[in-house]
Amino acid sequence: MLLLAIETSCDETSVAVVADGAVLANVVASQAVMHAEYGGVVPELAAREHLRNLAPTARAALAKASTHVRSLDAIAVTRGPGLPSALSAGVRAALAMGLALGKPVMGIHHHEAHLYSAWTDGDPLVSRMDTFQPNISLIVSGGHTLLAHVAAPFKHRVLGGTVDDAAGECFDKTAKLIGLAYPGGPLVDRLARDGQRRTFPFPRPKRDDPDDDFSFSGLKTAVRYFLRDHPSVLDRPEGLRDVCAGVQEAIVDVLVTKTVRAALRLGVPVVTASGGVACNSRFREALRSRCDAAGLGLRIASAPLCTDNAAMVGLVGFERHRAGLAEWLGLDAEGLPGWALGEAQPGLPG
Ligand code: KG4
Ligand code: ZN
Repeated sequence: MLLLAIETSCDETSVAVVADGAVLANVVASQAVMHAEYGGVVPELAAREHLRNLAPTARAALAKASTHVRSLDAIAVTRGPGLPSALSAGVRAALAMGLALGKPVMGIHHHEAHLYSAWTDGDPLVSRMDTFQPNISLIVSGGHTLLAHVAAPFKHRVLGGTVDDAAGECFDKTAKLIGLAYPGGPLVDRLARDGQRRTFPFPRPKRDDPDDDFSFSGLKTAVRYFLRDHPSVLDRPEGLRDVCAGVQEAIVDVLVTKTVRAALRLGVPVVTASGGVACNSRFREALRSRCDAAGLGLRIASAPLCTDNAAMVGLVGFERHRAGLAEWLGLDAEGLPGWALGEAQPGLPG
């Protein structure tokens, strides 16, 4: 099955070509530089850029995959959740293309695409859902922090999520307080590599609570007060690196502790992780060593599949189709900005 996949839920315009579960092309046009000027994603600008970038990105993906639109069997598109106007750009493009080509269009849940992106490997990347094992899955990015129990393919239940800021948002907001550019997560990661994790111990909000929820806004406030009370700490390069290492360690400790604890409680053999923050080098290292110590298997999505991309949308579309669970959209389908994971997809044709 040859699928064209489209992702426009936030600030990445991405188009992928996926053939029978193998990624032939995954082109991402990032808007990060444009939004950096404003210190965060500006929804209307994001939608305008998606409209501008969609056709060239699709053309680049088809060329890279050495395929033609007429060879496609179907189109898969992220329908939600995400920014309303950004989602709308992708859904409208997918439906128009489907109509013009006479091909069906599948609606895909953005978190579901992240959730299963850990079940891939190889070069080119190939879906490895054939090796699936029940797992606890952590999705951590700029927009989401979500812990799910995945008992079987497409049988997942949300255990918890953030009650305020997402983990990536915490990286970005604390980075801004420290004076780093947006998005700050990768910069904090880089600076923290040469810093001391224990010099400045920041709080670990909700780490020891028995529930599966997260809260990161208190950590941001703790960093703000810390900088107010230690105004010269960032004047020395080692001070900057130690603050980055301390903040990163607090975020990573909370994420890893709660994920491993949920896996042990529910008795699953494997932990998976995905989303932009899963690129963080300390997160990957800490999750690996805590899973090893607990006797848990670990699958982390490969780097190109961690940040938002259309390959994960095409891969999950292929697996849904293979499982007989493809959800085809009617021509009047809209984006679903608030679509909760596990909630039935509305607006499918009778
Ligand atoms: O998945 P993604 O591209 O977009 C969303 O759906 O949000 O994730 C972007 C987020 C940003 O907050 C960014 O700072 C964070 O992922 N991020 C990182 C790293 N790489 C990306 N955070 C910490 N360390 C990294 N290496
Ligand atoms: Zn995402």
